[in-house]
Amino acid sequence: MTGEPEERDPDEIRAELRDRWERSAEGWRAGNRRLQAATMGVSRALVEAIEPQPGQRVLELAAGIGETGFLAAELIAPGGTLISTDGAEAMQAQAKERAAELGLRNVEFKLADLEWIDVGTAEVDAVLCRWGYMFALDREASLRETRRVLRPGGHVALATWAAAARNPWATIPRVALYDAGLVDTLEGSGPGMFDLADEAGLRELLQDAGFFDPETHALELTFPYADAGAYWDATRELSRGFADVVATLDARQEADLRERVAAGLAPYAVDGELRLPAVALIATATA
Ligand SMILES: C[S@@+](CC[C@H](N)C(=O)[O-])C[C@H]1O[C@@H](n2cnc3c(N)ncnc32)[C@H](O)[C@@H]1O
Repeated sequence: MTGEPEERDPDEIRAELRDRWERSAEGWRAGNRRLQAATMGVSRALVEAIEPQPGQRVLELAAGIGETGFLAAELIAPGGTLISTDGAEAMQAQAKERAAELGLRNVEFKLADLEWIDVGTAEVDAVLCRWGYMFALDREASLRETRRVLRPGGHVALATWAAAARNPWATIPRVALYDAGLVDTLEGSGPGMFDLADEAGLRELLQDAGFFDPETHALELTFPYADAGAYWDATRELSRGFADVVATLDARQEADLRERVAAGLAPYAVDGELRLPAVALIATATA
């Protein structure tokens, strides 16, 4: 025994991460309307930044249910095509259903990992990615791949989250799990949602991948919930990690955890509802 942590096979980690997203898809579909209502400002900012024109080919990466790209799909018609991609088949199945619901006819769906984008070199005019890159094991490779598929002069617009301290909507459940002794650390294992929270670091990452003129800015959001119960349900839908721990609890442990979450939410009660602050980062650059 050397005491050194054992090096894990990156492909094993990737398979685990993918499995978690596969199992998240149903919850994301269930919570889609609420999430999209609260985060529409981010989708709009990303779509505006790529300046979509009729006839263009736009690629969305880590699209989830696909809503951000679907906004662009309308703007590139007639003649344009959205390529909506995700690494998880179950997410993509939900995105296909959503596109059908919206009556979109100019969307191609493709399974694609951020690290190996199955699209030809310089084939797309613009790339959108909302809350995806931080979940890739190799973000540098993901951004180099993004630049490769963009035509020279094409734009990328991506969103990450600002630091955990500015996003209580997302941190309260983990703090409650930690305080209840149900998890060992305040951060989960593997790539996490706050990993690209530094604006200067994000610009440097884009520059290192060969992009020009990287720019970033913060965008404030509010997640509204009727009460702590609604917040609990929404968190179980969107966070597979939280839902997996809750599924192991007995009634007493769950009641205790609910109390801890409610206590974390209390400072955000406004006019009979909860208004949880959030801050996203928007980054844009040119290939
Ligand atoms: C936080 S969700 C964001 C979904 C969507 N973009 C949105 O804003 O609602 C992250 C998405 O990234 C996908 N994802 C995670 N790692 C990925 C990877 N390495 N390659 C491609 N997609 C990935 C997940 O399947 C999931 O759909």
